[in-house]
Amino acid sequence: MAFENLLLERDGAIAVVTINRPKVLNALNTQTLDELRRVVLELGHDAGVHVVILTGAGEKAFVAGADINELAVQTPTSGREHALTGQHVLDLIENLGKPVIAAINGYALGGGCELAMACTLRLAADTAKLGQPEINLGIMPGYAGSQRMSRLVGKGKAMELILTGAPIGAAEAERIGLVNRVVPAAELMTAARALAADLAKNAPIAMRYIITAVNKGLEMPFAEGCVFEATLFGLVASTDDMREGTTAFLEKRKPAFKGK
Ligand code: COA
Repeated sequence: MAFENLLLERDGAIAVVTINRPKVLNALNTQTLDELRRVVLELGHDAGVHVVILTGAGEKAFVAGADINELAVQTPTSGREHALTGQHVLDLIENLGKPVIAAINGYALGGGCELAMACTLRLAADTAKLGQPEINLGIMPGYAGSQRMSRLVGKGKAMELILTGAPIGAAEAERIGLVNRVVPAAELMTAARALAADLAKNAPIAMRYIITAVNKGLEMPFAEGCVFEATLFGLVASTDDMREGTTAFLEKRKPAFKGK
């Protein structure tokens, strides 16, 4: 599949997607968003891919937001469609059923921060800056940032970040739970690949159900979430990988999961 604004690299069970518009700090225009949608669907269907890394080209930015050239001319109806499209693409990422690691190599602002929040895990370079600066443009988050931010860091911090628009550094982002881990910028991709390689060894069906249980469970009352978890727990007990994982433990060897 050919992309104009994305690079796609395969390394065994790991796929690395790089948003590649460095001249505009990898801003998400309509075409890039559509290419992201297509690549996510493709990687979702590819059983050989167990983990995805998402990053930005160049050293300055992960993604500096939605493309402001497009925002500047939006109408009420096109703005609504734009937001719904962005939300849809990020929803596909969040619910891909395979871990998606955001390797945040610089600015993750606006749609870039929203994109990172839709990923399963976030590693940030110590040089990264994250925030929701839409308020400075007289607008607000539109790719579900007002929803995911509060779920990730709590209502108080979400209000502060979105209302002030002020970006925060990587260390503060780690402190409030907006990113999982901060690493020196030069080591970011090595750390992301190492984490991806660790995850790629896990049983894919169990990973899929864990992601589903956490994502869907957060939207349910606790007791319903527990019933949902128990159902998935029962389903995962039907897999060859469950037999392999438990047998390997008892035989004191490493498991070799097959995704079945
Ligand atoms: N949309 C479109 N173009 C963008 C962009 C965006 N979100 N973010 C950056 N760019 C472009 C700039 O216009 C500039 O283009 P030019 O070289 O043709 O002038 C280029 O990327 C480099 O950005 P620049 O502003 O010169 O870099 P900087 O280091 O001085 O500042 C930022 C970096 C991230 C602080 C600044 O680019 C910025 O504030 N970007 C917008 C962030 C934002 O509001 N995002 C939310 C959108 S909803």
